[in-house]
Amino acid sequence: MTVTPLASGLSSEAIREIWFGHVRLKVHPTGHADDACGAGKGAKDSVAGLSQQLYRSSPLIGSMPSLALPGHTPASSVQNSSHLSREIVVCSVQLRDDRRTASCIALPPGVECLTIDRESFNQLIGDLNELRNKDYGDRARGAQRVSSDLQAQSSAISKEFENITLHDLELVATLGVGGFGRVELVQLTHDKNRTYALKCMKKKHIVDTRQQEHVFSEKTIMLEAKTPFVVRLYKTFKDRKYVYMLMELCLGGELWTILRDKSCFDDLTARFCVGCVLEAFHYLHSKGIIYRDLKPENLLVDSEGFIKLVDFGFAKKIGVGRKTWTFCGTPEYVSPEVILNKGHDHSADYWSLGILMYELLTGTPPFTGADPMKTYNIILKGIDAIEFPKKISRTASLLIKKLCRDNPAERLGYGKNGIIDIKKNKWFQGFDWDGLINRTIIPPIVPKVKGPADFSNFDSYPLDKDIPPDETSGWDHDF
Ligand SMILES: Nc1ncnc2c1ncn2[C@@H]1O[C@H](COP(=O)(O)OP(=O)(O)O)[C@@H](O)[C@H]1O
Ligand SMILES: [Mg+2]
Repeated sequence: MTVTPLASGLSSEAIREIWFGHVRLKVHPTGHADDACGAGKGAKDSVAGLSQQLYRSSPLIGSMPSLALPGHTPASSVQNSSHLSREIVVCSVQLRDDRRTASCIALPPGVECLTIDRESFNQLIGDLNELRNKDYGDRARGAQRVSSDLQAQSSAISKEFENITLHDLELVATLGVGGFGRVELVQLTHDKNRTYALKCMKKKHIVDTRQQEHVFSEKTIMLEAKTPFVVRLYKTFKDRKYVYMLMELCLGGELWTILRDKSCFDDLTARFCVGCVLEAFHYLHSKGIIYRDLKPENLLVDSEGFIKLVDFGFAKKIGVGRKTWTFCGTPEYVSPEVILNKGHDHSADYWSLGILMYELLTGTPPFTGADPMKTYNIILKGIDAIEFPKKISRTASLLIKKLCRDNPAERLGYGKNGIIDIKKNKWFQGFDWDGLINRTIIPPIVPKVKGPADFSNFDSYPLDKDIPPDETSGWDHDF
């Protein structure tokens, strides 16, 4: 039996998987059942007329790139290499100082034992007594009261929408267009002051691109996400041609549009935006949900100027400490481990947070190529190969570099304190986190919104003349 220090026998990102109580860890050798292809938002790209500076590729899912870079295993060969298909079993864990013994019988072809020294254990997970006795501040924050408030609010919301049907909704204007269909501003016929966003997705398109599972996941996760930093989903509908999601309306428009008009943000504005995203991620990650499609187009500004995450088409509930392998995201924002099909977890969201910071402060993401393949090649060369413009302050560039580490386990936020480590970073020094959570701070950009149906902060879109065919296979039975 060989005993190998864990650090050399197994990539450190896997340590978390084992030590967080998953007794068995299988390194995934192949693609996954939820892989699919064909999501895109080409319609938006062509209709909205993107400026060159803020051009963005369409989101991708399931198509694995084949890259040949020095020092990197091409994704296709990762998929085929059977030696990677190994199983790791945690046999015995010595958590206290007293000596413990255990007998293990190894069967052919043999066992490789991996160990982790106490210092690394403490750094990644922390001292167990410390964890056990730690005050998480629940009492101070009145967590109980907040959660019962939320429950009450939530059941009031369900009642409010109980009797609303598609026939009660009147179309006002289009807010966004994508490969899936459109997002419309709608109002209640009997109360025009009550306005919402209605995402209408063509069922035929969903089935053709094998996105059924993702659409269900989008619905389930958004229904579950009850935080001010994520757009609320109130109700879903379906008919022969579409599935619909009735959502909270954000009339301030996309952060992307504001960034396009301003070219770039100052530190204060960027810090506020990233702060809102951090709160959203904190909430989602604590529920074992990873987001996977961060970019300014998916950040909406509400009428007071607070920012909310929308578009959960690529979000996935993987559970805390678990990994997934689906290749998805928007090329400029995908992390190296996604490109290399090594498996990814919530740390891929931290990577994208670094990319977002860079884009907000400069107007363009750090890794951009003429096509997705070129972008992936540049991403794999790492953040240190990028020359940061002077307008990015030193503290900001240090934080970006800490978030965009090639090794997911080295990214800020991956340690035992999680996202708190990012919130405590010097770039956020003096930021009023309580004021953000309680909405008592004044947002840096307060949009002009003249009424509940004012869509002037959105680009304009022509009418959709394409009527999709019926799709009646029944996959959406539970939608
Ligand atoms: N709740 C909402 N309020 C206002 N605008 C919205 C809302 N949801 C979506 N939109 C608009 O529609 C666009 C597309 O919606 P999104 O859910 O991101 O679809 P896609 O999956 O095609 O990217 C968004 O970028 C935004 O401009
Ligand atoms: Mg989107």
